Amino acid sequence: MLQAADYDYIRGLVRERSAIVLDETKDYLIETRLQRLAHSERYASVGDLVARARRDSAVSRRVVEAMTTNETSWMRDVHPFEGLRHHIVPEMIRSRAGTRKLNIWSMACSSGQEPYSIAMVLREYFPQLLPWSVRILATDLSTEMIAKSKEGAYSQLEINRGLPAPLMTRYFKRDGLQWRVSDDLRKVIDFRSMNLVEPWPALGVMDVVFLRNVLIYFDVETRKSIFLRLRKVLAPDGYLILGGAETALNIDDTFERVTIGRGVAYRLRSRSH
Ligand SMILES: C[S@@+](CC[C@H](N)C(=O)[O-])C[C@H]1O[C@@H](n2cnc3c(N)ncnc32)[C@H](O)[C@@H]1O
Repeated sequence: MLQAADYDYIRGLVRERSAIVLDETKDYLIETRLQRLAHSERYASVGDLVARARRDSAVSRRVVEAMTTNETSWMRDVHPFEGLRHHIVPEMIRSRAGTRKLNIWSMACSSGQEPYSIAMVLREYFPQLLPWSVRILATDLSTEMIAKSKEGAYSQLEINRGLPAPLMTRYFKRDGLQWRVSDDLRKVIDFRSMNLVEPWPALGVMDVVFLRNVLIYFDVETRKSIFLRLRKVLAPDGYLILGGAETALNIDDTFERVTIGRGVAYRLRSRSH
């Protein structure tokens, strides 16, 4: 059993390292996630794990990672990927015909379903992009999630969550009990661990940014600081795609909400065409 002081310590640690806010209603989540970690790393109890985390930074890092929620699926929410296919990429192909470069960033990619879904949309519907320099950057705080994304091996249960059968046949191969993504798809994605609340390395200008289902875990100040940095990273005519429960409204008015097909995206208000 954890003591009140342990919960306070975990809340403080997770907030300081990841900006994820865990209020008192999330104590059950702390308990269950850390139980699981204590069990898999063979600690005698969850109390032992927390005691160790207090003096060992490698262990405290594992604790923070264990507190991230990595829920995701293929083509999650559908509309962002439909928007990419029918509006954003066709527009980018016209506007970037001179440079033939396209940069897309999946900012909290979890186990890789989001960037692989983006890559499948590009491969499936835009053969004219083959000679282009297309880069998909995929980052996440969790080193475990980045390792899983790079490996590109998924269970049947994970595959069943939203991956259309024709895409599975074309881009995945059976490997024992798992399905492995094709090298062809994997090589267009640059997977890196990166903490959104630490300074960002120089990444170049991004034409499309997916920032989905992670802002919900942060407080308003953290969200503001991320939008502030995105202003500089997003191309003036680029697109920012947030999760269904997330918005830039009343947080950063530099971004305006636009309708893309049946979905929405955000664009810089003072953009150049
Ligand atoms: C719910 S998943 C979202 C995955 C995907 N974007 C989607 O919408 O399906 C949230 C991800 O955000 C990551 N995350 C949480 N805090 C982060 C931070 N400070 N920096 C980078 N990634 C973070 C977690 O590790 C987790 O994989």
